[in-house]
Amino acid sequence: SPQTVFDDIQYQMTLEKETLTELVKTFLKEFKIGLENYNHPMAMIPSFVTGVPDGTETGVFLALDLGGTNLRVCEVTLNGDKTFDLRQQKYKVSDTLKTGEATVLFDYLAASVDAFLTSHAPPANFNPKHDVVHLGLTFSFPVEQTALDSGKILTWTKGFSAKNAVGHDVVKLLQDAFDRKHMHVKCVALVNDTVGALLSRSYTAGGCILGSIFGTGTNGAYVEDVTNISKLGPNHPAIAKGGKMVVNTEWGAFNNSRSHLPFTPFDNALDRMSINPRFQAFEKFISGMYLGEITRLILLSLIDAAPRALLFKGKAPKALNSQWGVDTSVMSDIESAWQGGEKTETVIELDKTLPKLGEFEVDKLPEGVKERLERVRRVVVEKLHFEDSEVELVDAAIVRWACHLVARRAGLLSGVAVAAVLIQTGKAKLGGEEKIGVGVDGSLIQFYPNFEGTMRESLRHLVGEVEKRVDIGLAKDGSGVGAALCALQAVKQM
Ligand code: BG6
Ligand code: GLC
Repeated sequence: SPQTVFDDIQYQMTLEKETLTELVKTFLKEFKIGLENYNHPMAMIPSFVTGVPDGTETGVFLALDLGGTNLRVCEVTLNGDKTFDLRQQKYKVSDTLKTGEATVLFDYLAASVDAFLTSHAPPANFNPKHDVVHLGLTFSFPVEQTALDSGKILTWTKGFSAKNAVGHDVVKLLQDAFDRKHMHVKCVALVNDTVGALLSRSYTAGGCILGSIFGTGTNGAYVEDVTNISKLGPNHPAIAKGGKMVVNTEWGAFNNSRSHLPFTPFDNALDRMSINPRFQAFEKFISGMYLGEITRLILLSLIDAAPRALLFKGKAPKALNSQWGVDTSVMSDIESAWQGGEKTETVIELDKTLPKLGEFEVDKLPEGVKERLERVRRVVVEKLHFEDSEVELVDAAIVRWACHLVARRAGLLSGVAVAAVLIQTGKAKLGGEEKIGVGVDGSLIQFYPNFEGTMRESLRHLVGEVEKRVDIGLAKDGSGVGAALCALQAVKQM
């Protein structure tokens, strides 16, 4: 019966508590392997950032940020009182640039910085002692760093595949592009966006142990004891010095071996058709680049269901017929229309009032639910480009259900990653009083209704009461501020 089709999908997409617990254990094992060995997919990259800021730092720096939804150029002024001022310009990176020759991509980055400098005259106190402008690069891809200002690109992620970049030093690629244009700009520091989020949250909130991104991609960086990063080797100066170092986990590649993640046929289909099959396994369950696509594949299976179509009377508009045709923001709009700004608890209660999708009768819908579904229906019509008459309330209910399954699974898995870091850093122990600072950034956590709520639900299950002390805060303009703070550290060492 139709209901079994829905039940079956729901079953495949639902995570049991035991699964979450097992995943945390596996996470911790992979942390260890990555800290002890190079070339592990979850790369556990030493950042060479050895301290977190306390808000007293000052200076004016340029920052360039590649790898999120937008390319950005920012001018950051650290005021030294936990505040900063920022002027920025966003640019788009076309698919042609993402997948073409690396030199063309880096020339575009240099041109964007040039355009920014031309239109935003630097303030008078900008680098008074130097005749070049110092820039920090936030490069949100895996880079095996060897120092604060150098590192080789390990692999591309998130739809990038520019040629002749992997294996090359990213700071050199950028500096060469500046030099080709005879620009007086020097790239002095390189950070991952997660490291940026950690540093900037620490600057504004006065302490933080994890910086994490839930956006186009997902990843986290945390503060580790240097002695645990044993792959650096016993003779490495950092090991001799001891203390702490920020490690970029690259958790998007967690469980690439696929031993524990609960893949469904939809996940497998997505992976096969992606430009990096068998890579970024965890990221493909969680991040904004992929959630819309998983949802699209679920919806298609219902449109194509036999012996009779279970959605949209078997008709798929172009958005549903093309790969990447459903953006995660559409899911977000649908969920917002359903929730209408209600609190988490109310939404949970609301969900219980929905009839089974296979036995849906409009006349039997409880009070208020019909209005909500009508709002959802209108979003579906608009965003998936249907004629109004083509979408019924039951279709709206099904689409919203699919979005919910996909986003909920992503939120729960995000909690697994955060819990693993809390355990790894010894913060998950009961009894303490202090707040545990977690900086976050990215479109999912910022805009997807209740994403953080679901993540917290998972955390509560995994670390119990400790969850209450976890202080999740937006690392506002994290990449710009983080890159500036690193540039400051680099300039001090010059
Ligand atoms: C931005 C940061 O705010 O968030 C980027 O400046 C980061 O560095 C990005 O990569 C992540 O979010 P999204 O949703 O743009 O991928
Ligand atoms: C991808 C990148 C990683 C980045 C994350 C969030 O996972 O590999 O470096 O931090 O996306 O942008």
